Order: sequence, then C-alpha cells, then structure tokens
Amino acid sequence: MTGTKASKLLLFGATGDLAQRMLLPSLSALAADGFLPERLGIIGTARSDLDDHAFRNLARAAVETHLPANRRASMADFLNRLSYQPLDVTAPEGFDALAERVGEAPGGLSIFLSTAPSLFEQTIAGLARVGLAGDGARISLEKPLGHDLASSCTINDAVAAAFPEERIFRIDHYLGKETVQNLIALRFANLMFEPLWNARHIDHVQITVAETVGLEGRADFYENTGALRDMVQNHMLQLLALVAMEPPVSFDAGPVRDEKVKVLRALRPLKAGESVTGQYRGGAVGGAFVPGYDEELGRDSEVETFVALKAHVDNWRWHGVPFYLRTGKRMPQRLTEIVVQFRCIPHSIFKQARTHPNRLVIGIQPRENITLSLMAKVPGLDRRGMSLRQVPLDIALADALSGRERRIAYERLLLDLIEGDQTLFVRRDEVEAQWRWIDAIRALWQEEGLTPRPYSAGSWGPSASIALAERDGVSWHE
Ligand code: BG6
Repeated sequence: MTGTKASKLLLFGATGDLAQRMLLPSLSALAADGFLPERLGIIGTARSDLDDHAFRNLARAAVETHLPANRRASMADFLNRLSYQPLDVTAPEGFDALAERVGEAPGGLSIFLSTAPSLFEQTIAGLARVGLAGDGARISLEKPLGHDLASSCTINDAVAAAFPEERIFRIDHYLGKETVQNLIALRFANLMFEPLWNARHIDHVQITVAETVGLEGRADFYENTGALRDMVQNHMLQLLALVAMEPPVSFDAGPVRDEKVKVLRALRPLKAGESVTGQYRGGAVGGAFVPGYDEELGRDSEVETFVALKAHVDNWRWHGVPFYLRTGKRMPQRLTEIVVQFRCIPHSIFKQARTHPNRLVIGIQPRENITLSLMAKVPGLDRRGMSLRQVPLDIALADALSGRERRIAYERLLLDLIEGDQTLFVRRDEVEAQWRWIDAIRALWQEEGLTPRPYSAGSWGPSASIALAERDGVSWHE
C-alpha cells in the first residue's frame, strides 16, 4: 500500500560511496523511466563544500560510471532536479540553512540517511528542530543500525523521538533485490510448494551468501563488525524469515512484517558446537593471489570473515528442521542461494535403483535460477529393473523473463520510500529480534572462547564448517 508521493527527497551523505555507486544512479534510472513524481526535487547534503553545479557534475560522473549507457536517457532532466546544501551535522546551526534550502514540500519530504550511524542522533535532532521531521516527512536509515541490541535500541529511540514507526524506513538492501522478492512470488504465487513446505517434507534448508571480495578498504568498519553482524544479523536472517514465514494475508507492510517477525522471534538460541567461524589467509581467488585478512589489515585480528551456523525455528512448521547458514569473504565464487532439501520418499518400489530426495535450489545471485532436482528413468532396456537418475528441472529466469530490465535494489527501495510503501523495509521489532539472537551467539562465542579458524582465500571456509553439516549427514551444496 502506498502513501502520498513525496515532492522533495533529501539525501544525507550525498557525496559518499553509497550515493555515488547506488543512490544517484538509481535515482537517475527512475527518472529516465518516468517513475519519479514530476516535480520531485532532490537536495543533496554532506560536509563537502560544493555548489549545485559541482554536485551535478559529481552526480553525472557517478551515473556515467555506475549505470549502463542504455539506462541513461533524459539525464539532463535528472540533473536539473538536483541541488546541494553543505552541512556539518555536528554544527546544529547549519540546519536552518538546510531547511531554507529544502523549502516547502507540499506532497511530503523523504529523507535518506546514508551517513555514519554515530551522526544519526544529531542529524535527527537537527531535522526536528528546524521542522523537517513533521507529519509529511519520512526517514530512511542505512545499516549498520547499531552493533548489538542495546546500541540498536539507542539509535531506534533517537529516531522514534522525531518520527513515528510508520514514517521510518529501515533498509536491508537484500529486500530490494528482484531475486529476493521472487522468493515471495515463488512461495505464494504457486500452489505446489506450500503443502510440502514444512517439517514433514523438508529435511533441511541451506542458505549460502558467498563473496569473493575481501576487506575492500573498510578495515575499521569490518574490525568492529565481522561476518556475523555484517551479513547474518540482517541479510541472511531476512532471507531465512522469507523462507520460513507463514503465508501473509496480503503483500502489504503490516502482514508481511508480522509474519517475518514471528519467525525471527522463534529462532532457537544456538548451542555450543552449532557455529564455526573462520578468517581467510592468503590464497588464490579467480586465479589471482590475494593476501590474508591480517596481512590486509596490517595486524593480527580475531574478527571472523566467515561464519557457518546451524539454526532452528522453534515452531510447528519447522520442528526438527535445521537451517544451515554460511557466509564468507574470499570464497571461490560469488554465490547467494537457498537450498531446500526435501525428505526421502517413504517407500521405494525400485528394488535395484537408489532414489535421491528432491531438492529445490533458488539462486539469488549472480544467476537467478530455480532448479528442482527430480528422479527420472534412464532410457534403455534394463532387465534387472528400471535405472533411475537425478535430473534437473532448470529455469533460468533471465531467459524466461528476458526483455525486462533487472532493477538495482536501491531503485525499488528509493521508489518505495518516495511513495511511502514500507513492505520491503525492516520494522523495529524485526531488527530487535535479529539482534537478540545474534547477541546470544556472540555471548556464547565469548563463553566458549571461540576464535576464527584459518581458511585459504578461494576455499569454502574452514573444514570445521563442512563437519558442522556432515555430522548430520548433510553436505553443503556447491
Ligand atoms: C553489505 C555488507 O551489507 O552487503 C558488505 O556490509 C557486503 O560487506 C554486501 O559485501 C553484500 O551485498 P551484495 O548486494 O553485493 O550481495
């Protein structure tokens, strides 16, 4: 469900990395395809002392670098919407000039905070003081929203002091990905999965988010974060929630988030032996040698760049079904996928041939594929009984739905922010349930004295993560 369309968009951190790589190109693409409200003005703000002209140049360069040429129609229209106001948010008096610059926003104001979370509180107080947090204003926040439950509550309280929950848009950019939304379509626009989508028929679920990149110049951030908080707390738990949730009554913000939060609250606290952490050492990724994490960092570290977990959702539907999660930097390939492993058939009529249980693999990135493995007869005249083999029923969605533009996640999210639709944004109770579960894992690690095991860059993580699954007779899907 959408609200009123904003007539102004205010971008904090407008000269930063996210703005240049994602936000400005996404807005330009939305403008090119006529999705932005006709008179939407976009005001950028950051500390850099730029004028409108310099900001437009920066935006043009960002769009030319990060948006394919065939998506850059009417760039002039986009650039004309932009203006810029320098602001140091730690100097409160600067907000008066900002408010003047923003001026009237008859349809409402959408604000996007892409700044360090340490600046959120002052920014929000400044906005409220100069009247930019009034009824027509919505605010969107980028992660990291805290580093544990307590700090996330502090941030959420600061935001809540000026904006009610229905005007707060917390971003998890995975929810903006076309392929992640397709998970919702796959589950709830098809009849055939739902009757099987439970502990009676599903043996286990695997969620993998593997990356080939390493530190990417973010040493300070990563040293205070690690894989558990960087990837599991948000993106992976959102994927898990979408896989495990009950059917919502409609695809609207309330029902969808109500169902997700029930799953997140039902996550069973992890026990000793249900997690493995790792840190990459030097090795080869994509044929090139890359240094280890500690070498990149320039000192020893106990921060995990890999984590594998065995999770459970304690409810009727998922009783006894493990969810194996793993994510890591410097893996052999970039791969995000969900594997739903069904149970064996209850009785085999084929005396000679072995049957393999069905498996559904949902590829999220880089390739959007849905593969269902089925058993089939091998052609031939076998006198000793039918021979069987596992064959894939493979749908490459890029081919099946060719000719349609795949949107950048931030196109979806910015459009929804401007139009006031919260369905793909994370509600406060979800974030808190996520942190509660993650904090307990970190406390357990501390208690156990768990330190990351080394793994070679270009491998699938420490061998202990293979053992974590194999102990249950499960192999990671590779
Ligand atoms: C971010 C993490 O949230 O997600 C990064 O901070 C990670 O460390 C990134 O690389 C992955 O996003 P994507 O869209 O490339 O899968």
